[in-house]
Amino acid sequence: MSAVLQPQFVLRPMLSTDLEAIVLIEESSYDFPWSYGIFRDCLQVGYSCWVYEVNHRVIAYGVMSQGAGEAHILTLVVREDYRGQGIGRLLLSHLLTLAGQCEVDTVLLEVRPSNHVAISLYQSMGFNEVGVRLNYYPALRGRENAMIMALALIK
Ligand SMILES: CC(C)(COP(=O)(O)OP(=O)(O)OC[C@H]1O[C@@H](n2cnc3c(N)ncnc32)[C@H](O)[C@@H]1OP(=O)(O)O)[C@@H](O)C(=O)NCCC(=O)NCCS
Repeated sequence: MSAVLQPQFVLRPMLSTDLEAIVLIEESSYDFPWSYGIFRDCLQVGYSCWVYEVNHRVIAYGVMSQGAGEAHILTLVVREDYRGQGIGRLLLSHLLTLAGQCEVDTVLLEVRPSNHVAISLYQSMGFNEVGVRLNYYPALRGRENAMIMALALIK
């Protein structure tokens, strides 16, 4: 009888050796991707940087900064062929759990108003729109505003 190999799923802290794979996902996900150097800086300053692996390959990642009672979700990306399977929600839940374990009252993030999938995820996790940053994002034509969303953590 032949053995059936189960896929291995691992959520773990990001390492500098993950960055090449992350940048490839980043570049295939965005017109204006974060660079290798931005991710390296996030690791160096000690932000909460996490990856989700399937069979030892990074397929999703998230980065969160924390300070002065606030946390900020800086990025959250799932590789395109793994989207819609609950991985984005899992990663975001993990970051929110980490924030809840620290002196954090509010979690903030920015999202493009055109990013309906991400907004739907954030709303379903309890985030509300609290403001707008005008001309925040580069866009293929000019610039795009950012919607600021916030979640108050209940202690
Ligand atoms: C946004 C993103 C991280 C969501 O990750 P994901 O793993 O695809 O999302 P999940 O499968 O966990 O779904 C979570 C929720 O997102 C929303 N969602 C997911 N796919 C969707 C789709 N195709 N259409 C509409 N809403 C969708 C739903 O609210 C879903 O909840 P539900 O399954 O209970 O309906 C992912 O789409 C992504 O990497 N997008 C590109 C990068 C990006 O835009 N990141 C966010 C920057 S602010």
